[in-house]
Amino acid sequence: MEIHIVADADAGAKVVADLFERTVRDAGDSGAVLGLATGSSPVPTYTELIRRHRVEGLSFAACRAFLLDEYVGLPAGHEQSYHAFIRENFVSKVDIEDASVISPNGAATDPAAEAAEYDRRISEAGGVDLQILGIGSNGHIAFNEPGSSLASRTRVVGLTRSTIADNARYFDSPADVPVRAISQGLGTILEARRIVLTASGEGKAAAVAQLAEGAISARWPATVLQTHPAVTVVVDEAAASQLELADYYRHSRALESDIPLSTDR
Ligand code: F6R
Repeated sequence: MEIHIVADADAGAKVVADLFERTVRDAGDSGAVLGLATGSSPVPTYTELIRRHRVEGLSFAACRAFLLDEYVGLPAGHEQSYHAFIRENFVSKVDIEDASVISPNGAATDPAAEAAEYDRRISEAGGVDLQILGIGSNGHIAFNEPGSSLASRTRVVGLTRSTIADNARYFDSPADVPVRAISQGLGTILEARRIVLTASGEGKAAAVAQLAEGAISARWPATVLQTHPAVTVVVDEAAASQLELADYYRHSRALESDIPLSTDR
């Protein structure tokens, strides 16, 4: 796991956008398969990628993308659906084909079948080249809440009270906040060839410390990322504030700044 402690969201967005740019350029005309997240954490990265598209000509035209999750009960057109969120914050502002950006259908009549079909579609696309993740204050990634199987597949999940409370800021009334989602499983996420997780703020500090330095456990689902050979974690000082090995991460990033990124850390 490669941990970058950055000064602010803009600095972090550049580190993450560099990974996206390299993935997209390496795939060339065959097209990278991108794993996209919603929530506030990836937004600075999407803003930087939109800038690179507009100013530097970075093209996503050949790419396909899969979202991590979607609320059950919200149709794609609902303004708080993740389908709508990713279009507003990224997809509509670059040249990726709208139809190439896939998310679980939260309005499916059979959400369990929809979830199984979603895993099949990711496999059929050849798997995800680069997956971006945020992290919940309780250590969830996608909507794999504490207690999730570390081998879980895409499925219907119930959200914890703390996640429902965290999400309530996006809805007009508490009664409108969805309580279930279709979420990629931890086992599904681990199949991505490279993963980058980004977090900021003190509210994420305990989860980030567990992610990087805690025991691997369903209690903190993000700890499963310790088993993946190519994970980059990009955090600001506040989110890094409970990392016991922060000095070591800073030191090793400085030592490595002149050598190419390895695929196995
Ligand atoms: C979003 C997702 C969630 C969020 C997490 C952090 O697609 O799967 O796991 O990444 O809840 O949310 P923010 O970034 O809003 O703090």
